[in-house]
Amino acid sequence: MSFTVAIDGPAAAGKGTLSKAVSKHFGFAHLDTGLLYRAVGAKVAEGQDPFRAAEELVPEDLLRPDLRTLGAGQAASRVAALPSVRVALVDFQRRFALAAEGAVLDGRDIGTVICPQAEVKLFVTASAEVRAHRRWLEVGGDEAQVLAEVRERDERDMNRADAPLRPAPDAHLLDTSELSIDEVVAQAIDLIAAKRG
Ligand code: CDP
Ligand code: CDP
Repeated sequence: MSFTVAIDGPAAAGKGTLSKAVSKHFGFAHLDTGLLYRAVGAKVAEGQDPFRAAEELVPEDLLRPDLRTLGAGQAASRVAALPSVRVALVDFQRRFALAAEGAVLDGRDIGTVICPQAEVKLFVTASAEVRAHRRWLEVGGDEAQVLAEVRERDERDMNRADAPLRPAPDAHLLDTSELSIDEVVAQAIDLIAAKRG
């Protein structure tokens, strides 16, 4: 029996940080599904067809440099709006969730589309200003520009027809605007531990 934790939320909400801490605590495998879309976006920027890029994605593609840049995030969000790309990535994500005894997947549609049966679903959020500030601390540059890009990506992710960003009805909402990483991690660990029994 596999135990799945789905962590969704908008850009720079703290999904990756939380997923890493939780997977380390419980000894679970972790998949950052945003990397799949970032890798497809990078291939499309090189001229590849989006569907083929998604179909032919291999784990090594996730190790490409520069996948964490703001530009790669925008490219990811554009290809992520294409239903053919999303469909091509479903099996990889579901297989990952089932392969390990415990798995954490973080993204936008894990609790709603990829793993609707996940044992624990967390929807992590924070105000756009707080999230943009956190991302700006990582990437530098013009903070107003980082905020504009975060907002643009949120808009596109929430308003696409296929698998839009939204909490699953049974997701626990965690607003991290006023919380430290340690506080968020502690809350998540409590929720997961309670569910695992
Ligand atoms: O994966 P996602 O884009 O949702 O966010 P992240 O990469 O985990 O977090 C973005 C940044 O916010 C990181 O530098 C975290 O250290 C920071 N962070 C924070 O300051 N407070 C939190 N409660 C969560 C994350
Ligand atoms: O770390 P951050 O939240 O900034 O971005 P990410 O999780 O790496 O995701 C990059 C983009 O990929 C998002 O803006 C979404 O458009 C897309 N994505 C998605 O559509 N579905 C997922 N499960 C994960 C990411």
